[in-house]
Amino acid sequence: MTRDPHSSHDGPLAGRPVSDSQTEMTEIVFPNDANPLGNVMGGRVMHWIDICAAIAAGRHARTPVVTAHVDQIDFHRPVRIGGVLSIKASVNYAHRTSMEVGVKMWSESRANGERSHVASAYLTFVSLDPDTGTPRPVSPVIPETEDEKRRYRQALERRERRNANRKRQDAT
Ligand SMILES: CC(C)(COP(=O)(O)OP(=O)(O)OC[C@H]1O[C@@H](n2cnc3c(N)ncnc32)[C@H](O)[C@@H]1OP(=O)(O)O)[C@@H](O)C(=O)NCCC(=O)NCCS
Repeated sequence: MTRDPHSSHDGPLAGRPVSDSQTEMTEIVFPNDANPLGNVMGGRVMHWIDICAAIAAGRHARTPVVTAHVDQIDFHRPVRIGGVLSIKASVNYAHRTSMEVGVKMWSESRANGERSHVASAYLTFVSLDPDTGTPRPVSPVIPETEDEKRRYRQALERRERRNANRKRQDAT
């Protein structure tokens, strides 16, 4: 019999809708966040992405979480000092103790409020037992909308690709 990956010592964990993990942050780019060209630094963008994603993963898991993996991040456009950034994250899919979080960042035009895509990323977080610090099972994700169902399916495919890459790396 295959063991339910979402079970704890107390039995199966109840599913949690994606809406439980949805997280939105707004940041303004200060001089301290910028490179000598006056644009936000990639490292600062990654920091905000990691924080927004960690909050989303923690909202789903209701435990401390750690970043285990970050997929490729592309920076689509520069953002000047004074620019306003909006960051959204939610859990796409949860396996046994790990979760894939999708994050998207936009810059907002002060003149007309229009949003432009700055960066996107997929991150894998692992839920930890607060007492032992070891990986702890999480609830399954319940995708409700068509977009959430698509992200769930695509997250499963990415998980398979990541696992295959890790196996290849471990073998070398
Ligand atoms: C993430 C961490 C807790 C995993 O511990 P581990 O002993 O490898 O645990 P396991 O082998 O039992 O794996 C636990 C889960 O993590 C996943 N995982 C572990 N390493 C991973 C990686 N590099 N990429 C994606 N998932 C990973 C496993 O697939 C597993 O998922 P599942 O339970 O949903 O199937 C551990 O590697 C760690 O603490 N890393 C440092 C995390 C950290 O400090 N991050 C901050 C930035 S450095």
